[in-house]
Amino acid sequence: MTQSFDVAVIGAGPGGYVAAIRCAQLGLNTVCIDEWKNPQGRPSLGGTCLNVGCIPSKALLESSENYERAAHKFSAHGITVEGLSIDVPVMISRKDKIVSNFTGGVAMLFKKNKVTSMHGRGTLLGNSEDGDSGNDMTWRVEVKNGDQTDTVEAKHIIIATGSTPRQLPFALVDNERILDNTGALALTEAPKRLGVIGGGVIGLEMGSMWRRLGSEVTILEALPGFLMAADEQVAKEARKIFTRESGLIIQTGVKISGVETAGTNITLEYADAQGGTQKLEVDKLIVAVGRIPNTAGLGVENAGLRMDNRGYIEVDSSCRTNLPNVYAVGDVVRGPMLAHKASEEGVAVAETIAGQAGHANLDTIPWVIYTSPEIAWVGKTEQELKAAGIQYKAGQFPFRANGRARALGETGGFVKVLADARTDRVLGIHMIGPYVSEMIAEAVTAMEFAASSEDIARIVHAHPSLSEALHEAALGVDKRAIHI
Ligand code: FAD
Ligand code: NAI
Repeated sequence: MTQSFDVAVIGAGPGGYVAAIRCAQLGLNTVCIDEWKNPQGRPSLGGTCLNVGCIPSKALLESSENYERAAHKFSAHGITVEGLSIDVPVMISRKDKIVSNFTGGVAMLFKKNKVTSMHGRGTLLGNSEDGDSGNDMTWRVEVKNGDQTDTVEAKHIIIATGSTPRQLPFALVDNERILDNTGALALTEAPKRLGVIGGGVIGLEMGSMWRRLGSEVTILEALPGFLMAADEQVAKEARKIFTRESGLIIQTGVKISGVETAGTNITLEYADAQGGTQKLEVDKLIVAVGRIPNTAGLGVENAGLRMDNRGYIEVDSSCRTNLPNVYAVGDVVRGPMLAHKASEEGVAVAETIAGQAGHANLDTIPWVIYTSPEIAWVGKTEQELKAAGIQYKAGQFPFRANGRARALGETGGFVKVLADARTDRVLGIHMIGPYVSEMIAEAVTAMEFAASSEDIARIVHAHPSLSEALHEAALGVDKRAIHI
């Protein structure tokens, strides 16, 4: 059976499902095709983000953080906890409930907005009519679900097929002993010794989480530096806190030569930064060495879709591919692999298709790492400004001088504002500290509105609040911070 639509979206992660809802809001007859199945074998919308990414990881980080507070931080408030324990299966089932609530929520949103939802793998077959302008063209997509094959026709295609974990040939994931993000989010007990290959975002979040529940965690990172995408000063502060206070063992500049599994034991052999041979024995190993764009089974070759040399679908600044009326958004295209970036591109493409001025500003995408303390930033780092030869001024304020942070007992970290030396326009804001995942929104708003540091300095911030640290850092750009 062939059904016809204005728009067919392939993939129902935060790029695809948001694009589909926005298309429907704009009056476009829309189908969203997705192949994700949950562990019970049932269709589950929401992609990586809702099923095995952002949402489950934050649920578990919160649980483990509560345990950590009760174990180590409550006593400073005079609260004594006796017989403290953690029931990991309960923690995991709480996470599973949150996931199923949200994935079911996407299905409800589809119904509410009259988006047709089809389960199965979408393959781009080609177009039926190739008008010069592309106006009369109809694309055909095969939807295969087990033995059943359907075809949909649509004037516009939005590809939002996301990404999958990059594999290491010498440490193949079985999700029993060697885990990717899916396995790391489903362990039912804290391993005694946990190894992590990759000191990036997943490695740090998952490593922190299991460390708080008692695992001895060793992170092995290939690059010579730590968190090299972040501002150097933030990365330095983070490494200090993660190793001295959180108890993570972090080794950078390593080269892993082999991983052997024998029974429940996993042995990693690697050269350390000095070239010395080292051995690490662990009970579980997480491999988190980045993600690759997912175009498997999409039919890119048949359709003639152009890819770049790293396997991403090539798009212009409006997410248009080389094929007429075919767009691609989210992890499968260039730019940061973040859920909010995928969603913003999805909305922009829907609005472009509907004839509006769709726009996603990749220069003001916030980054957040949900460790403790949290790390967040938007815009340029100091090292990027130096490399580009841009003259800048910096203002910085530590959380130890912030009243709310003191009350919380979370005084590590700081806020830093970088502004153009000539115009005072804010070029980047970097934070490490409590709840900076929430505070970064003000920084993004300021940069979207092309604020100067003086603009932020002139805004009234509630007292006592963590946001005062941003206020003081902005004042600090002109050396007029009050409380330091
Ligand atoms: P995805 O979410 O990957 O969705 C793609 C969907 O397309 C999937 O459902 C897939 O099954 C489906 N699909 C693929 N091919 C086909 C096909 N041919 N036919 C039909 N369906 C298909 N980002 C953040 O911003 N904040 C976070 O806190 C955060 N935490 C993360 C934690 C972890 C552990 C991981 C792994 C990722 C995290 N991310 C986070 C990244 C975030 O999950 C991704 O950037 C986001 O999911 C990308 O959205 P997407 O729509 O492009 O793709
Ligand atoms: P990543 O790119 O953040 O980090 C991977 C790390 O592995 C890098 O530091 C890299 O140098 C290292 N590496 C690569 N090969 C290695 C090897 N052979 N040995 C040792 N180290 C090696 O990727 P990660 O952590 O897998 O996460 C993927 C993406 O998912 C992130 O980049 C981010 O876009 C997204 N994500 C976002 C989160 C958030 O927003 N809070 C949370 C988790 C993931």
